[in-house]
Amino acid sequence: MAEDLIISTGTKEERYKELIPQIKALITGESDLIANLANISAALNEQFGWMWVGFYLIKDGELVLGPFQGPVACTRIKKGRGVCGTAWAEGKTIIVPDVEAFSDHIACSSISRSEIVIPMISGGEIFGVFDIDSSELDTFDGIDQKYLEEIVKLIS
Ligand code: SME
Repeated sequence: MAEDLIISTGTKEERYKELIPQIKALITGESDLIANLANISAALNEQFGWMWVGFYLIKDGELVLGPFQGPVACTRIKKGRGVCGTAWAEGKTIIVPDVEAFSDHIACSSISRSEIVIPMISGGEIFGVFDIDSSELDTFDGIDQKYLEEIVKLIS
């Protein structure tokens, strides 16, 4: 496909609905995980302009920073630590409306105000997490969870 993204200006749900087929087209036929994660983070960044969009992959029992868009970030996170390590330990999506109210939040950036983390699961095993940070409070809800989990399934 042409590598130009069509950006939607509709509701959040319409934006996801227009973006997901484009993400599918971007990753179809490409088997390299890093290449696909890089393009997915870029596509979401272009469409939504969140503060940070990226992936951590489990390597030797830790989450290690993978492809992302946004400011520099922490490179390693232990299981059960922070929002990312908690989503890994619990095996479920975590929405944090206010990072200051999440006691173990790891502040890679002082600008982050809210966050969503989705575990990436393949063959029943978690192999990483998808992490998105917003500079505004209460950015993420069930709509984000639904469509971001759909995006994660495309690469699982
Ligand atoms: N805030 C995350 C750390 C990763 S950065 O947000 C990119 C956490 O608490 O796990």
